[in-house]
Amino acid sequence: MSTFSEREEVTRGARAIVVHADLGNRHDRDLDARLEEASGLARAIGLDVRETKAFRVRQSRPATLFGSGQTDEIATLVLQEEAELVVVDNALTPVQQSNLEKLTQAKVIDRTGLILEIFGERAATAEGRLQVELAHLDYQAGRLVRSWTHLERQRGGFGFLGGPGETQIEADRRMIRDRMARIRRELDQVTRTRALHRERRRRAPWPVIALVGYTNAGKSTLFNRLTGADVTAQDMLFATLDPTMRAIRLPGIDKAILSDTVGFVSDLPTQLIAAFRATLEEVVAADLILHVRDIAHPDSEAQRDDVLGVLGELGVLGDEAAMEAGEGAPIMEIWNKIDLLDADARAFLAERAEREEAVLVSAASGEGVEELALAVRDRLLRDLARHQILLDPTDGAALAWLHEHGDVATNEAVEDGRIAVDVRLSGAEYARFRSRFGGTEEGA
Ligand code: GTP
Repeated sequence: MSTFSEREEVTRGARAIVVHADLGNRHDRDLDARLEEASGLARAIGLDVRETKAFRVRQSRPATLFGSGQTDEIATLVLQEEAELVVVDNALTPVQQSNLEKLTQAKVIDRTGLILEIFGERAATAEGRLQVELAHLDYQAGRLVRSWTHLERQRGGFGFLGGPGETQIEADRRMIRDRMARIRRELDQVTRTRALHRERRRRAPWPVIALVGYTNAGKSTLFNRLTGADVTAQDMLFATLDPTMRAIRLPGIDKAILSDTVGFVSDLPTQLIAAFRATLEEVVAADLILHVRDIAHPDSEAQRDDVLGVLGELGVLGDEAAMEAGEGAPIMEIWNKIDLLDADARAFLAERAEREEAVLVSAASGEGVEELALAVRDRLLRDLARHQILLDPTDGAALAWLHEHGDVATNEAVEDGRIAVDVRLSGAEYARFRSRFGGTEEGA
């Protein structure tokens, strides 16, 4: 896969300015925070961000997005900062991108391109790399098609335009299509292998808990706290692109699998949502989703909506009926970074958290993490189905297994000499119990 430096001829450490067109459609976002996030994204691929600026754009221009005075201002900033690159924190059409490059005399990259670059750098597993490449090709193919029609229109008018000819673009498109088809086949294979692993895990009696959250919310830090691992404790966006899984112990639950997933971000390129559907299957298949939020962030609520939006697109958020049917995992909110709040804000949030069944923590200091473990345990147990299992009194092994893996409420002797055990078990645990010990159920 071509890297950022090959394709854009811009290297790590390149001087960049970050600009944002405020189109007035995201009133839920703080502009400074938005610029800070965009700079963070730019720094994530090693760019040297020299200046950031937001522009109020009343009406988006098809040719340049920004107004002409604003474009001049951007060009001046480029000169002043000797910038090689302009990062536009919006989605640009290919035409806007190339016009802005001409007008500013610098390379231009848009938000989608930037996010794709970051994902390209971070993908660690074969599957992650394939998925990012697929998303990238999809993005490029879209650009080729559009610039092709654009060129054709121009050629009709003037008939002398240079640049890649129609045949070249046709050949490029075919190459991209072939490559995409090959990647899809390879991905199919990887996905099948992973599905097998998941199936094996499903048969194991351990609940799966998935961490999700907006980028930089603190998922990895919390993951390390809960697992005692040291996976990725760094201020690096999207450090975890491929799901990382670890076993954890929770009070009263022998073992659970905790999986850390990719951080979400607003305006996530649709190509990436499609590409990551497979990776995020871990989330879809989870028994419980922990939504980690940076509760001290000014856009905490908007970030929450973005995360729920992506989960919705993934089909994770079932409606009530789906939840009843056991489809769609329950979500629990973790309000992180409380160490950054003053006493008043904390007291206010503590009250709200109680009502909304959220848990306050500081993954950094460890505060609240024990309470979190207990809350997760309670939530897992609450969502488990109740079963009444009839056991032979001599079947001590089965009874011990139930005590170890489930939440046993009562053991009562029944008339025919067998014991009725009232126990809460997850579907997977129950299936495992049946395959191991057989046993009869007397109505749930
Ligand atoms: P992505 O990989 O981008 O999805 O981020 P993430 O959600 O995994 O966040 P990560 O754990 O990497 O933390 C992001 C930054 O927030 C790091 O600089 C952490 O040190 C910091 N951080 C995490 N938890 C806390 C917390 O409880 N308090 C404070 N003050 N900082 C925290």
